[in-house]
Amino acid sequence: MTYIEKEKKLIMQTYNRNKLLIAKGKGSILYDNEGNSYLDLVGSIATCSVGYANPEVNAAIKEQADRIITTTNLFYTEPQIELAEKLNQITKLDQSFFTNSGAEANETAIKLARKHTKKKGIISTIGGFHGRTLGALSATGKPRYTEPFKPLIQGFSHIPFGNADALKREITNDTAAFIVEPIQGESGIIVPEHDYLNKVREICDQKDILLILDEVQTGNGRTGKYFCYQHNKILPDILTTAKGLANGIPIGATLAKCEVANSFEKGDHASTFGGNPLACQAALTTINYIEKNNLMENAEKNGKNAMRLLQELNKVQEVRGKGLMIGAQIEEDASIIVEKCLEKKLIVNKCADNVLRMLPALTITEDELKKGINILGEALK
Ligand SMILES: Cc1ncc(COP(=O)(O)O)c(C=O)c1O
Repeated sequence: MTYIEKEKKLIMQTYNRNKLLIAKGKGSILYDNEGNSYLDLVGSIATCSVGYANPEVNAAIKEQADRIITTTNLFYTEPQIELAEKLNQITKLDQSFFTNSGAEANETAIKLARKHTKKKGIISTIGGFHGRTLGALSATGKPRYTEPFKPLIQGFSHIPFGNADALKREITNDTAAFIVEPIQGESGIIVPEHDYLNKVREICDQKDILLILDEVQTGNGRTGKYFCYQHNKILPDILTTAKGLANGIPIGATLAKCEVANSFEKGDHASTFGGNPLACQAALTTINYIEKNNLMENAEKNGKNAMRLLQELNKVQEVRGKGLMIGAQIEEDASIIVEKCLEKKLIVNKCADNVLRMLPALTITEDELKKGINILGEALK
């Protein structure tokens, strides 16, 4: 049996995979089992923030694994406390709760918002993506993902993204929070007007509801600031992140201001693996690596150059993004181009019918980006 046949027999068929069997990675290069190398502009969908097999992160993981991987949360561990301190320094949000994925980080945020406000309503956006567990899915505004699993959790409603007036109209006496991505990722890299988050913050304050920012995809240095909201002069009440936080080791984090976080009491929420020393040490080392090597500045500069080069390509209708979170809208079905690129040993991703998404490691070089965009240009011809 081939690995493709075996996978079909043994794994639930929820993924549309291409045929590569990935064996290893280094920097922005992935290798298949036959030793072919591929330039990866997707960074395992924004999880590989400081490159595959990053020597500093891997050394920290190995060292931590030799000491202890997990003890559950019955005890204190240093990496968890240090990571919370680091995230507090970056955001000025007071407290963290650690989980293992983006969906769980959002579940935590939704529970916290309901507990704090004693209200049920959660407003989110059409096209917004917040994960596949039932709470996060209820917030997700993509019928393709939600319809088969109805009835979802009560109290969720969806408004157009980028429209602050729509938020104002949707808020009722029972609204607890508004959850939104600063840039919609899964829906095709949709960037709102710059002052959207400022307006949203103002409305949430006026109407006394919580603002939850989902920075699972936009966070961790990708857009040129550690968190995307830092391009605006606002602070959310609750912030969620995951993906690139620990360079691929599973972790999720929910951060909140003290007055909100304090609403969680002993026993209200828990996670067996959440905040384990291995993931937290990996996250700490990843954040330090990003800061020490000016990767946020690189993301901003390289992202701008990449977007300019993409705009010049034939058949590219529009280029959207911030830093190294980039979408190129094309005329045809993006999956055809993804396949053609793969034949040319380049990995790009389709995230809406006709949008090619790029979320490379923040360590990608200018030359690698140029090379990738040249190959993409060939594939588009
Ligand atoms: C904005 C956003 N939120 C939440 C999630 C869910 O994260 P996870 O797949 O780690 O549960 C994703 C994943 O793509 C995401 O992009």
